Amino acid sequence: MLLDRSFRRTLIARLLQSAGPSAAAALLVAAPGCGEPAAEAESAPDIRCFEWFDELGACLDRAQALDELRTIYRNCEDTNEIIVSVESDPELREGACCYEVTTHVCPNLGRPFTLEGHRVTAAPRLAEAGWLARGQASGAGGQQPSLADLTDEERETLADGWLRSALEEHASVASFARFALELMALGAPSSLVEAAHIAALDEVGHARLGFSLATAYRGAPVGPAAFPMPPAVPIAADLAALARAAAEEGCVGETVAAVIAAEQRVRAEDPAVRAALEVIAEDEARHAELAWLTVAWAIGAGGEPVRRAVAEVFEAAAASLGRPLPPGAEPGGGRAVALAAHGHLDGAEARALQGAALAQVVLPCARALGLWRPAAAAGVARPAASA
Ligand SMILES: [Fe+2]
Ligand SMILES: [Fe+2]
Repeated sequence: MLLDRSFRRTLIARLLQSAGPSAAAALLVAAPGCGEPAAEAESAPDIRCFEWFDELGACLDRAQALDELRTIYRNCEDTNEIIVSVESDPELREGACCYEVTTHVCPNLGRPFTLEGHRVTAAPRLAEAGWLARGQASGAGGQQPSLADLTDEERETLADGWLRSALEEHASVASFARFALELMALGAPSSLVEAAHIAALDEVGHARLGFSLATAYRGAPVGPAAFPMPPAVPIAADLAALARAAAEEGCVGETVAAVIAAEQRVRAEDPAVRAALEVIAEDEARHAELAWLTVAWAIGAGGEPVRRAVAEVFEAAAASLGRPLPPGAEPGGGRAVALAAHGHLDGAEARALQGAALAQVVLPCARALGLWRPAAAAGVARPAASA
């Protein structure tokens, strides 16, 4: 359930203002239900396959196939989806066992750096790597979380969680560096190029905050290893590709990230964690604005083909809403509350918040700006994630 209503409402106003300053105020009032949950779209079944040889006999049954597919597709590690369930019996197709599956998009905590559709992050480095917040790096302290009431296991969970998020923030630095080059290559105005560089610096700050918190919970320094950057990094070939990526990673990804950071902040009680999340939520909201602004500029410059590329992104986001949430393997009850006080959301809650952010912020704004139309078909239900 989304708790921070005022953050959500302000964010919607800012995003609409970014994408269409002259019409934004009117749109907010006129768009029926901007800020209300979006209806889900119907989606085609997802098919996933793995190689199979006749000598092995019949294809695996549904339960075995789910384990196999999760191993192959490595949920949320290098793809952006979780395979929730296998919905059909196997079908043998040209040496592969194929199944209809239900998938869910992974919660995205910021702007990813992707290569050939795969997310890339640095490996952790278990040493001081020059990525701690200034006070902590010099040994002078700075604002530190309180460890007093935490068990060893809780500290380990928090260290792992903040490290994972710090590595994603670190990757966002590279993502914005590439985005700035793409803007230059496609003739964007200086305001966008400037904002992209500022955003990259924000992400340096977020990464430092994350590595500092991970270090505090771990009790020993941790940072990133060298970023695994290939010698040649592909950049967007045209305005449609740029706008599509901005819509996926920014209008969807960073808008959701901003909402999730605000929700983490509401639940957090530790002052050091709250202070970090305050900065991150505000910056991510600005990054989301930059994405909507970029999309508006690209559509203005490139016309209908660019608009269509962007619309496809929102259609895909809407389709993900109708899929059931995967079960969470994380702790519930008192332990979950203790961890939330230090900024940790379990996977199931993060995925539920992601759905709510899509339904209540991203899609209503896309609809208000004419970039997405809800499936008006009869029988379309409200998403379960709305809150
Ligand atoms: Fe960030
Ligand atoms: Fe960001």
